[in-house]
Amino acid sequence: MPALVLLGAQWGDEGKGKATDLLGGSVDYVVRYQGGNNAGHTVVVGDQKYALHLLPSGILSPGCTPVIGNGVVVDPSVLLSELSGLNERGVDTSKLLISGNAHIITPYNVTVDKVTERFLGKRKIGTTGRGIGPTYADKINRVGIRVQDLYDESILTQKVEAALDVKNQMLTKLYNRRAIAVEQVVEELLGYADKLAPYVADTVLVLNEALEQDKVVLFEGGQGTLLDIDHGTYPFVTSSNPTAGGACTGAGVGPTKISRVIGILKAYTTRVGAGPFPTELFDEDGEALRRIGGERGVTTGRDRRCGWFDAVIARYATRVNGLTDFFLTKLDVLTGWEQIPVCVAYEIDGRRVEELPYSQTDFHHAKPVYEMLPGWNEDISKAKSFSDLPKNAQAYVKTLEEMSGAPISAIGVGPGRTETIEINSFL
Ligand code: IMP
Repeated sequence: MPALVLLGAQWGDEGKGKATDLLGGSVDYVVRYQGGNNAGHTVVVGDQKYALHLLPSGILSPGCTPVIGNGVVVDPSVLLSELSGLNERGVDTSKLLISGNAHIITPYNVTVDKVTERFLGKRKIGTTGRGIGPTYADKINRVGIRVQDLYDESILTQKVEAALDVKNQMLTKLYNRRAIAVEQVVEELLGYADKLAPYVADTVLVLNEALEQDKVVLFEGGQGTLLDIDHGTYPFVTSSNPTAGGACTGAGVGPTKISRVIGILKAYTTRVGAGPFPTELFDEDGEALRRIGGERGVTTGRDRRCGWFDAVIARYATRVNGLTDFFLTKLDVLTGWEQIPVCVAYEIDGRRVEELPYSQTDFHHAKPVYEMLPGWNEDISKAKSFSDLPKNAQAYVKTLEEMSGAPISAIGVGPGRTETIEINSFL
């Protein structure tokens, strides 16, 4: 019953696509359990590069069934265009399964996301503008539209009416925008029904049966631990639970079924959007990390904020997710620095703090306390085993492992599918 959860241990964009793809060949099901097309992974297969937003990256592995779980929010137009883009490149997407309980990102959710951000002005979250937060808000307010609603026109119309009732008041009276017509939304949504129908399934049943039959199921988190609505840097977070518990609620699988929780950890740190980031760099080192690491959002095209590795965050991720392993990515990006600073603790109002403070005020005041580790100049992209790495790169990895509280079981040394060192097998 191998059920693995793979999630970002920092603020997302740690390189999960590569890790999922590495496992893809031996995995029977790859499941997304939260988020929507705010995510973005780049997966390199041979000389082909794929940018995926909503689809689980297992879609690129022929033997694997990709699943969009109930906890995901689905923009049907984005999903269909992602599918047809892959089909045009010869990728077979017919195995995809979508939960009938997944919520739909409607056009009005996207509008509300954009106008709310504009209204917040300098207090904005810096969302991806894809309607994620408003769709989850509708879900919690019990006025959401689910995939299954596309197959009952009368129910769909009633639900869209209920959802637009208050929103149109808000759009017209508060935001000075035009009201959105119920019929127009219903017509658009009904237009997706037949196209999505072949994929819609009772994914909870499918996944639990698969686990009973000892199939390998991989749960793939979008975003990252620090963007979790409960455990992240609230309010500068996404509106779902990328942390390990989210895999259970977002896919309908009990916690006793999960066998391994793997945190993807970048060898330095990045984030997009607003919010605190203690190790952020505003100098040429930050610029160099951005340039060498190609740190530009797959979804939004925004430059990512860059900084040194933060062990306080890694330790926190180990704790809130119950991590059993780390996959350290992008170690090659650090080649060429004489010394590499690693944040080991924070200084907050004159105090040394070793753990992530629960108080937002404290975290905003946190200054990184750095330890300097010696760098390396050798090209590491051809390294196949840990011992192939230069001594200082080995020491960097070992130090991160000791500080982070879980074994580093794989290391990414380049963007390609094979540019990975496997230390312990994940299966
Ligand atoms: P939302 O998920 O669009 O509501 O955006 C909320 C916050 O999460 C913003 O700071 C986004 O930049 C950030 N965010 C959302 N998705 C990702 C992702 O896949 N990687 C990194 N940051 C993300």
